[in-house]
Amino acid sequence: MSAIFEILDKDAGGRIGRLRTPHGTVETPTVMPVINPNIQLIPPKEMRNFGAEILITNSYIIYRKEELRSIALEKGLHELLGFDGPIMTDSGSFQLSVYGSVEITNEEILGFQQKIGSDIIVPLDIPTPPDVHYRRAEDELAITAERLEAARKFIQSEQLLAGPVQGSTYPELREKAASHLKDLNFEVYPLGAVVPLMEAYRYAELVDVIAASKKGLSPAAPVHLFGAGHPMMFALAVAMGCDLFDSAAYALYAKDGRYITVNGTYHVEKLNYLPCSCPVCSKYTADELKKANNREELLGRHNLYATFAEIRLIKQCIKDGKLLELVEQRCRSHPKLLDGLKKLYTHSSWLEQLDPATKGTFFYCGPESSFRPEVLRFGKRLNRFSLRGSVIIRASPIKGEKDYDQVLTFKAPFGAFPIEMEEVYPFNAEVPKLPDYESLNIALSNTLKLMDLNPEAEFTFICEKEFRHPLIEEISKRAKLVYREDWKKEQISES
Ligand code: GUN
Ligand code: ZN
Repeated sequence: MSAIFEILDKDAGGRIGRLRTPHGTVETPTVMPVINPNIQLIPPKEMRNFGAEILITNSYIIYRKEELRSIALEKGLHELLGFDGPIMTDSGSFQLSVYGSVEITNEEILGFQQKIGSDIIVPLDIPTPPDVHYRRAEDELAITAERLEAARKFIQSEQLLAGPVQGSTYPELREKAASHLKDLNFEVYPLGAVVPLMEAYRYAELVDVIAASKKGLSPAAPVHLFGAGHPMMFALAVAMGCDLFDSAAYALYAKDGRYITVNGTYHVEKLNYLPCSCPVCSKYTADELKKANNREELLGRHNLYATFAEIRLIKQCIKDGKLLELVEQRCRSHPKLLDGLKKLYTHSSWLEQLDPATKGTFFYCGPESSFRPEVLRFGKRLNRFSLRGSVIIRASPIKGEKDYDQVLTFKAPFGAFPIEMEEVYPFNAEVPKLPDYESLNIALSNTLKLMDLNPEAEFTFICEKEFRHPLIEEISKRAKLVYREDWKKEQISES
């Protein structure tokens, strides 16, 4: 019997995986479209046409409504929805967080999910919202922990059991909760109560919540970001190791006349053109879509196509080792996502441990790229180079360099490294001809560190006129600093 979750490919903290459930195996990362058993905008059996491999629905809604409950108990969940692939069921926790109480116990809703044949069962956790007092977050976490421990004892079938990580906006509680759950061996770990953060575009805090939770979990465990359905933030979340998402957004947005793109959302009334080529957008003009009788359904369909197109692109980027390039592009769609990107790279030292040592060519996409894990890794390994004698550091070949004992290439955002490594990852990076301030800052700091580590060597630093940075002054204190134009003059006068 193979493992429940298998990782096939990795990039940064992201991975392509395979999750085995009683109703089949799904490839991750993926999105589970949320099915409301009361209102079906798009029939569940059609979901595969969009790329969906697994659905999610709410067991509490089914439990509460007699017509649905009796069908589910007699014929099973899969028959009720008309979908024979994997289905995850949520408990009443979300209703609990919105309405304050639900008339059901943890044991009842667990037993119900088990009886109706759910593939992934969720206990009745307490979704503690952001910004509550630490004491409340701690107390609710203790109740959640008790319920999850009870659930783990209760569910011993081949059905998968999810262990939601709570802890509000306190990274230390999230990490503690996660490492406690790790020892209980859940099959899936949802990160809970993040919806309010996403609704308020608080991506920087979302990043801290994900990072803290992930640090407490085993890297081999599948992670679900509960309630994340906007494709604009999938790449960022995948890069931190989220494997599953669930989208009610496709339907909720459609109901409001909103059209999802990876760069944000448009109100259909404001669209003059349809910037997409899915079957809906190929068949209708913007005007026809606005006036269509089934506008909500058409928007729902487009929203699903847009959502799964992004998932496929993310998977391709993981295969190509280009996930962080995609994250950097996506995070430029909104300044708050840019805050999320900057926050992501404050965790580079953690990402660096997960990131493959070699992959596709590094593309410098802007100042944030200076803080990528690969750059950090190089900075940590400067002590591996030992330099002696005369050393020349230059950005590109220069006349007379052969006269030196060692030639180093200077390339921002890395710094100086032996020319023999120019074609080796990540030094074969594609970088702009004009380095920006951030990348020079890192590269010059690393170069100074290298000089300090090698006090025996005598350095010559060939400076390009485009390099404007206060650290150039520091370099000139430790090395003979010559501007490229002046070097030419020196060579001419010498010859
Ligand atoms: N749906 C969105 N957030 C949550 C959560 O924290 N817990 C559960 N059970 N469902 C959710
Ligand atoms: Zn479309």
